Amino acid sequence: MEVIIQRDRVAATILVAQLVARELQMKPSLVLGLATGRTMETLYAELVRMHVEDDLDFSLCRTFNLDEYVGLGPDHPNSYRHFMEDNLFSKVNIDSRNTHLPDGLAGNLAAECVAYEQRITEAGGIDLQILGIGEAGHIGFNEPLSALRSRTRAKALAPLTLQQNAPLFPNPGDMPTRGITMGVGTILESRRCILLATGRHKASIIAKAVEGPITSMVTASALQLHPKCQVIVDEAASCDLQGREYYRWIFDNEPEWEPFR
Ligand code: F6R
Repeated sequence: MEVIIQRDRVAATILVAQLVARELQMKPSLVLGLATGRTMETLYAELVRMHVEDDLDFSLCRTFNLDEYVGLGPDHPNSYRHFMEDNLFSKVNIDSRNTHLPDGLAGNLAAECVAYEQRITEAGGIDLQILGIGEAGHIGFNEPLSALRSRTRAKALAPLTLQQNAPLFPNPGDMPTRGITMGVGTILESRRCILLATGRHKASIIAKAVEGPITSMVTASALQLHPKCQVIVDEAASCDLQGREYYRWIFDNEPEWEPFR
């Protein structure tokens, strides 16, 4: 795991966008794993800007989102499909047939989860997985107690997740209590993953995920097992990290990061 601390939210987000752009330029048919949430809105805005101003090309890119609410269809304004259309897909030159999210309206959820895994496999696996982190320590909807080898499945949402996301619904009581999510095991199979977290409210969970023990109570801690995982944070989200000066030193001295310093 590498931890990269940027001065603020904008700098952290731009760095992640630059890394996505570089992967996409190196492999136009990149299989990109995507997340939703407030943190991702700024990331997608930057990728849209790169598409419009710098011709960043998504025409061959294939995407798989981490999760979707059970019971919400693509037209529901709070569905993750809707979020993705609104923030990214409708604003870049991606082929909609290449964009995948679990189907929250599937009649047979178990079969949908198996089919989703199958589609990822058929695409050749995920090259780059983008992640956010919830205050409950989840990645995707892998709530506390999720098995660290779990696969795509339906999952009951933790109280803290309900509390964190319910305000985004016009009527908070309408928030679904279950989601379909890629498993921790699915995420760990991605070839590279980048977790983006910004803001003081993420500092304590980032410290647990990065420096704490690997535990199913904080599923993001499983990323410590990933062979190529970067955690990109702003100063505010880094402030509970014991080793932050050491992480800064690595970033400042690692030749690979030269173009991004
Ligand atoms: C959603 C997802 C979640 C979010 C997390 C952070 O697709 O993967 O794990 O990344 O809940 O959400 P925000 O950015 O709203 O704090």
